Amino acid sequence: PSKTGRVLSIQSHTVQGYVGNKSAVLPLQLLGYDVDPINSVQFSNHTGYPTFRGQVLDGQQLWDLVEGLAANNLLYYSHLLTGYIGSVSFLDAVLGVVEKLRLINPELIYVCDPVMGDEGKLYVPEELVSVYREKVVPVASMLTPNQFEIEKLTGSRILSEKDSLEACNKLHAAGPQKVIITSIMFEDNLLLIGSHKKVKGQPPEQFKIAIPKIPAYFTGTGDLMTALLLGWSNKYPNDLDKASELAVSSLQAVLQRTIADYKEAGFNPGSDSLEIRLIQSQDDIRNPQVKYKAEKY
Ligand code: ATP
Ligand code: PLP
Ligand code: MG
Ligand code: NA
Ligand code: MG
Repeated sequence: PSKTGRVLSIQSHTVQGYVGNKSAVLPLQLLGYDVDPINSVQFSNHTGYPTFRGQVLDGQQLWDLVEGLAANNLLYYSHLLTGYIGSVSFLDAVLGVVEKLRLINPELIYVCDPVMGDEGKLYVPEELVSVYREKVVPVASMLTPNQFEIEKLTGSRILSEKDSLEACNKLHAAGPQKVIITSIMFEDNLLLIGSHKKVKGQPPEQFKIAIPKIPAYFTGTGDLMTALLLGWSNKYPNDLDKASELAVSSLQAVLQRTIADYKEAGFNPGSDSLEIRLIQSQDDIRNPQVKYKAEKY
């Protein structure tokens, strides 16, 4: 399937290393998409290093870029993609962008990674949570929270697979047709859980994919995952399970290459946070071999 599109991607930029737009733009291009990146920050490196320097774009500056595009009739997009957002004023500007893009293309697909935290820790200001919940969820077409984020969005603890499927139902009722919990742990098992509400009033199609946990810590993987899910779900709009198998298989190939390359270079991959080997994995992004299969509920 060759279906592509034009994606406006509002995410972080780092000079060195792969997070935000640096992890999302190339994979989408390799899948055939035109990608227009807006860099919400420009940092020397990601924030997991001992120090970082750089600049942050504010909501007004985002709006200025969008008005520049509008003034030249350049605001037709099939997709909007957003990741980490650090302030309420920037998130409000993003909401304005969604509205403006939908005036031009009412079919615009908004893929939102509601990045708020992980493993029980919030790493955005607390007041962003209610903005995501009340204003962003209702306008998103597809959401890619992790376990912690879907708990924040639904206000419910998720302690079982059944809880996660119910949480997906809650999110569908609030707006998005597609919800993918990109990582969730039950009894030491790492899962991706997907839910596609195809028809109003009918239950969603739900599935899981088991992912073998690699004993290392990567950054940029959440951003890469959401980009791959956008890319593949647009090519298989009625098969979210198949799209997710392709995305997971690509990502795991990237991670395995990353581990192997670090080992070969004499590093211990268990110690530091690893930068993904993205360009080296271009074949696995273009043509992933499906090794991880979805199991329907
Ligand atoms: P986000 O940070 O975007 O809100 P997230 O917490 O799911 O979402 P990550 O933890 O980076 O983001 O995980 C993204 C994907 O990468 C998941 O599907 C997960 O399976 C995979 N992944 C990340 N780390 C590992 C690992 N150590 N072993 C195997 N897979 C991993
Ligand atoms: N964006 C910036 C600026 C970061 O510093 C980081 C991680 O340190 C991320 C994004 C995280 O990306 P991910 O959740 O994909 O690992
Ligand atoms: Mg995570
Ligand atoms: Na995610
Ligand atoms: Mg993340």
